[in-house]
Amino acid sequence: MPDRRHFLRTAALSVAATGWTPHLDVLAAPTLGLPTGSDDWAQVRARYDLWAERTYLNTGGLGPAPRPVLDRFRAVTDDLQLRSETGHRLIEEARPVVARFFGAAEREIMFTRNATEGNAIVASGMHLEAGDEVVIDSHAHPGGAIPWLNRWKQDGVVVRVFDPSGTDADGILERIARQMTPRTRIIQVSHVTAPTGILMPVDRIAGLTREAGCWFHIDGAQSAGMLPIDLRAIGCDSWATSGHKWLGAPHGTGVLFLRANRLDDIRPTEVGAYSDAGYALPDRFDYIDSARRHESGTRNAPLVAGLEMACRFMDGIGMDRVRERGLELTSRLRTGLQAFDRIEILTPEEDDLHGSILTFRPRDMDFRAFHEALSTPFKLRIRIVTEADLNAVRISLHVFNSETDADRVIEAVRTALI
Ligand SMILES: Cc1ncc(COP(=O)(O)O)c(C=O)c1O
Repeated sequence: MPDRRHFLRTAALSVAATGWTPHLDVLAAPTLGLPTGSDDWAQVRARYDLWAERTYLNTGGLGPAPRPVLDRFRAVTDDLQLRSETGHRLIEEARPVVARFFGAAEREIMFTRNATEGNAIVASGMHLEAGDEVVIDSHAHPGGAIPWLNRWKQDGVVVRVFDPSGTDADGILERIARQMTPRTRIIQVSHVTAPTGILMPVDRIAGLTREAGCWFHIDGAQSAGMLPIDLRAIGCDSWATSGHKWLGAPHGTGVLFLRANRLDDIRPTEVGAYSDAGYALPDRFDYIDSARRHESGTRNAPLVAGLEMACRFMDGIGMDRVRERGLELTSRLRTGLQAFDRIEILTPEEDDLHGSILTFRPRDMDFRAFHEALSTPFKLRIRIVTEADLNAVRISLHVFNSETDADRVIEAVRTALI
């Protein structure tokens, strides 16, 4: 393994060559062996053990973890099992790294199992009365919608929806505003919508929400690892994500951000050991002054160590580059598909309204037959989109995908339309 001196020299060279400075403490970079500062996507692809015989285009569903993440997860599992220790210290070591990756303070994040859990902690913890209202996008994933439907069922909270599709941010803002009433307490949006990959204008929505005195929650399941994220700059009150999609963390990982000055606005519904800042039976108990109050009991430290490594891995590539790569590949695919009159592209074209997902459908063919004609003969792992009756197929293009992958989809579409 290269020593620290070697690393510093290499890092200095790559910074000098590209002007790129890593965001996190990248002492782990030599272990990752990443081509930091280089544009060599083939080298990035080589860090993934994905099957070569199938083209994987479903990161929006589940993202493969690169080898350094899996190595870390396995090594920590083995080590903790051999010593029979919990490894909770590793969770606390991961917290500042993960927080920094998302532009948050250490005490503002907690580790969850998935995005759904983070969304549900916010939804079930809000102090609401019957008749209070939440506005959410009609493309919300069940993991973002059902926690609110539960509040409707249990407490009579009213769920109002707006359509997020369209071609301009002003239209999105107008449609949200139209659903707001004096009873609106929360606005929740998907950061990037799951069905068609719309990138929501979250900083503008944060402004709207602030003016109205509402809570702003973002379901970021599709954004972590797809876009550079600075939660403080966005100005949301809470944000939840999965680790196991674009970030490439192990399955069953997630992060919930709760803005420090609003920690006490979410009623903890599940607490126990480690949630407290001191307790004594029968009548003394204080919450720890951190989002960590929602974590309790023995945790899976190897998963969190893997999540930390996933943040370091993505930071090693550089999130601005990851974002640009997504735009580059989706633009190539879009251009190819625009040649077919019989294809309708549902993802907005403007760069600031989409990320690394492209959803489209045939105008005159059964979408299930279309999906089948693309996936089996061409060995493409893609996702069908039935939500909101969109009847389409969704392609996710991430750092391990290539121009060849995008071209393969175009070729498959050409053949399917014959
Ligand atoms: C926007 C959105 N929210 C929530 C989820 C659920 O994620 P998880 O399975 O990590 O809870 C998904 C998964 O696709 C999603 O796209």
